[in-house]
Amino acid sequence: MSGPNTNYDPVEVAALDPTQVEAAVADALAAAAAADSLDVLKAARTAHQGDRSPLALANREIGALPPSAKAEAGKRVGQARVRVAQAYAVREVELKAERDASLLVDEAVDVTLPTDRRPMGHRHPTELMSQRIADLFVGMGWEIAEGPEVEAEWFNFDALNFDADHPARQMQDTFYVDPPEGGLVLRTHTSPVQARALLERGVPVYIACIGRVFRTDELDATHMPAFHQVEGLAVDVGLTMANLKGTLDRMATELFGDGITTRLRPSYFPFTEPSAEMDLRCFVCRGADPQCRTCKGTGWIEWGGCGMVNRNVLTACGVDPDVYTGFAFGMGIDRALMFRTGVSDMREMIEGDVRFDAPFGMEI
Ligand code: PHE
Repeated sequence: MSGPNTNYDPVEVAALDPTQVEAAVADALAAAAAADSLDVLKAARTAHQGDRSPLALANREIGALPPSAKAEAGKRVGQARVRVAQAYAVREVELKAERDASLLVDEAVDVTLPTDRRPMGHRHPTELMSQRIADLFVGMGWEIAEGPEVEAEWFNFDALNFDADHPARQMQDTFYVDPPEGGLVLRTHTSPVQARALLERGVPVYIACIGRVFRTDELDATHMPAFHQVEGLAVDVGLTMANLKGTLDRMATELFGDGITTRLRPSYFPFTEPSAEMDLRCFVCRGADPQCRTCKGTGWIEWGGCGMVNRNVLTACGVDPDVYTGFAFGMGIDRALMFRTGVSDMREMIEGDVRFDAPFGMEI
């Protein structure tokens, strides 16, 4: 074991030479100042402050000095190391601030930039409503039937027990296809599909038909010359008006919510007897608000016609009315869509403006 070397002259230890120490500090400070990123600063710090840096080596030499020399050398190296440490700390704060500032710039998102994202396509609300109604009847085991929009006058009127002079046959209500005596019309309702279904499918039959119909109405807030109806027809042994009422209530509840039922008022259609107008419980006030704007305080909203299939229709379609009975109904789909969307002007539904179509057509 050898003790401290009492003859050891600190000035002769190169690492502790004041000029050397000062040079090491100058190098360290220059490297800190030159560091232009946190990574470069980190490397410089290892070189100038790390275990193998000139100042760390100098510090290690102090232990070997004679006690008389230790204090002075210790002070010199200690101060040098503090200066270096402070310089690095200051530079690190600066560089971090620079990095944060440039991150904010780089990662900034300009929310006002126009987007090139294309809006997703979607089905038209009328189509969605039609499919919803079709699903409902298919779910009850009914079939979906179709018929032509350009229809034989016979199916549109005669088979449905309209007299030859019934006012609905007038030119002011019905679009006749040229030549007028050719016997073709644009169907004025979906009811001709009743006659077609009876003739094509026979009985028993349970069908729903959803389609476009035409009347010579001016386009305004509540009328369209082309609109949509859902027709229902059920013919079987023993069907009564109770079955009709149950079916209508089910449809109303499915489309407008629990508790929305229907009420029947006596009416007249040539192809049903007895006939009724069908009203829907007001789905806004449910009959509780005399000031309600949707139902005008009546608690009910008119929605369509219905009744028991007239014997003459069954006979015209080859069905024995003494064995079979049936019920039928016809409702406006566009009206139902108005109810559901709260739109008060029907024209919005056909103008093709995506501001109407998109919010009401996005259902999956
Ligand atoms: N077709 C009738 C209309 O358009 C509605 C209806 C259908 C009435 C079926 C009774 C039975 O007004």
